Amino acid sequence: MQSLRQLLPSSVEHPGPVAKAVTIPSLRVEDAPRFTWRGMMLDVSRHFLPPADVKRFIDLISLHKLNRLHLHLADDQGWRIEIKSWPNLAIHGGSTAVGGGAGGFYTQADYADIVEYARRRFVMVVPEIDMPAHTNAALASYPGLNCDGVAPPLYTGVEVGFSALCVDADITYRFIEDVIRELSAITPGPFLHIGGDEVKKLSDAQYTRFIERVQSVVQSHGKLMVGWDEISSTRLLPTSVVQFWRPNVSPRAAVAQGVRIIVSPYNKVYLDMKYDSATVLGLSWAGNIEVRDAYAWDPAMLHADLPESSVLGVEAPLWSETVVDIRDFERMAFPRLAAVAEIGWSPARARVWEEFRLRLAAQAPRWSALGINFYRSPQIPWREAR
Ligand code: ACM
Repeated sequence: MQSLRQLLPSSVEHPGPVAKAVTIPSLRVEDAPRFTWRGMMLDVSRHFLPPADVKRFIDLISLHKLNRLHLHLADDQGWRIEIKSWPNLAIHGGSTAVGGGAGGFYTQADYADIVEYARRRFVMVVPEIDMPAHTNAALASYPGLNCDGVAPPLYTGVEVGFSALCVDADITYRFIEDVIRELSAITPGPFLHIGGDEVKKLSDAQYTRFIERVQSVVQSHGKLMVGWDEISSTRLLPTSVVQFWRPNVSPRAAVAQGVRIIVSPYNKVYLDMKYDSATVLGLSWAGNIEVRDAYAWDPAMLHADLPESSVLGVEAPLWSETVVDIRDFERMAFPRLAAVAEIGWSPARARVWEEFRLRLAAQAPRWSALGINFYRSPQIPWREAR
């Protein structure tokens, strides 16, 4: 359907009725994706996106034939999903955002509605509750989750690594059991992402015990665990999935365990990185990422220890420390998300930068008709609508 839609003139994408009949040549579409997992991640914890904005992103994702929407639902700055057995997580933990804004959260009904909206567009929602670090919003909501019984204040800054669940306390596992049970019940897709990244306050042994225990909780609810590449050092079920974000970390340990791998190298597809030094939004700790940087690489060539048979697919995360609303999210996603979409879809031999930049240029009238706030990269000879 999206291939057919892309054959129509861009004018059909304007809101409102189409003025005259449109025709396309008689043809047959023969097309199939290279990778199963073609994803984008929205960080709705650092800045919250209301359900209507998430739905707009789902529309834009499906237009580009992406099929996974990873929602980063909990981090230090905000807990964004209602958990009925622990209501303060959303009510208190969701009440602010980076910079001190009002935050927000999805009720379970909101979430179910988003999941169904996505499903009808062939997009699977993958929810993430990041743990054991990146948990200040939860720790602030329930004093009992803290080893010292004292809840820290809500956090509106952008540091990482200062929080950790009390991994040797029983209450922590009652909390995790409840959260995973409720989230599993409203998530029809098989995957549940448990984060596992950037843990600075636990020993290796504590971390390993924690991840392996959480993995068994996820499994007991019939789900497959996804985690950031830090989990490679733990004992993984072959059904678990590892998301590689650090390009300098070898996937050898993960591959040896037989797990499948999602590639999200931060120096290629972190959509929160600036395009160049003049970009107003975004961060630059992973370098600047122009459109060509996001396009001209291949998942199978990323690492000598990563055979293509282990690659489930590719995903572009959009962290939201500096992006505040849907206009900002769009600005950082487009055009780079189209580059990632093509990496996920097209065979490597069909991908040539000099051709891609012309095909991308031709998207401008379509994206303008859709009202997308996209970055006019100087690398692209844009063709705007007259
Ligand atoms: C990450 O960027 N900490 C996954």
